[in-house]
Amino acid sequence: MNSFLNRKQQSPIEGWDHQDPEEAFTLPSRYFYDETLFKAERDNIFMHAWHVAGHVSEFAEPGQYVVTDLFDQSVVVAKNRQGQIHAFHNVCQHRGNRLLEERRGTTGGVVRCAYHSWCYEMDGSLRSAPRCEKMKNFELQQFNIPQIRTEEMGGFIYFNLDPKAPSLRDLFPGADEEMRRVFPDLADMRLIEEQDVIVPANWKVIMDNSIEGYHFKLSGPCHIDLARLIDFKGYQLSKRDNWWTYIAPANLTVTEAYGVPLRKDLNPEECFFNIGMWPNNTFYTFPFSEFLGSFIMIPLDAERSLLRFGYYSSNPQTAEVSKACMKWMNEDLGPEDIALNISVQKGLHSLGYDQGRYMIDAQRSNESEHLVHHFHRLVFDGIHGNSAT
Ligand code: FES
Ligand SMILES: [Fe+2]
Repeated sequence: MNSFLNRKQQSPIEGWDHQDPEEAFTLPSRYFYDETLFKAERDNIFMHAWHVAGHVSEFAEPGQYVVTDLFDQSVVVAKNRQGQIHAFHNVCQHRGNRLLEERRGTTGGVVRCAYHSWCYEMDGSLRSAPRCEKMKNFELQQFNIPQIRTEEMGGFIYFNLDPKAPSLRDLFPGADEEMRRVFPDLADMRLIEEQDVIVPANWKVIMDNSIEGYHFKLSGPCHIDLARLIDFKGYQLSKRDNWWTYIAPANLTVTEAYGVPLRKDLNPEECFFNIGMWPNNTFYTFPFSEFLGSFIMIPLDAERSLLRFGYYSSNPQTAEVSKACMKWMNEDLGPEDIALNISVQKGLHSLGYDQGRYMIDAQRSNESEHLVHHFHRLVFDGIHGNSAT
């Protein structure tokens, strides 16, 4: 028997990351539910990763903010009165009260703690504290909220809790250019809608499902509908070190999509496009959809994830086909994939399963699972340290 086929619950799994991809066995099932491995992912991967806060347009006005929760942390990204975007921890420096509960909003330029009214600028600096003039040796600036790093790439603002993490440009060279190539109107986009869905599955189960084309024609009816809209022969999954794309030209012979008739003069550049940035950020567009979708998997615990679906467009009037596509994503394709993810999560606990095979072919064809393997290697290295030589 192959030495990688350790029995369930045995660890560590020597040499897993040195397998030939075309013969490799999948990550053992415990990687998808074990609490200790999940904590290692939290501490070694997510606490050092770049997380999407929002599109630049969500920070257009002074006082505009977005709150993102990650495990037990909560981060505010906001534009201050001087017009700069900053991120800071969502916590008052007096007795630790959480400052902002809403996901998005606009303050008058100051955030006020609801407990004793300490007031902060939208960069986290303390502006006032009632009765502080009566205090001995009280300096407002001693109680500024610690800031968090932010960077912009491909029209989106990201934050990173690790001040020493490599920059977005170093981690994802070429990704900014790729986003701007596919979405030339990126700078003019606005958020149309955001949907959060909690799914009882490990975050990687959901990622795995989203980065292979093997199941497109083999699973449910909505996937077959999607496959009909793309030129599947031209579907390509390409990996870089820390990011990947899967792209296909649109099938320009179709006359309707998502139940809506299409215009006669279809854009020859229409495509199915996905770009994934390690560990959990995906942006995409569907053929004819006229929107940019964001698809962020936020782990809640080892077996629950929050899926955040964002929809952005530069068209002030959302086109009928865009509305139909968002509805189809939310009510048809999304649930079809979510049902598969929930079913896989149950199956991973079975004593009758531990490791399968990545279905990777030599050509790295459109149905090959090489991105899943690549993603799992990043996970493995993230958890255990990079042992590849
Ligand atoms: S806890 Fe915020 S002002 Fe007291
Ligand atoms: Fe799918």
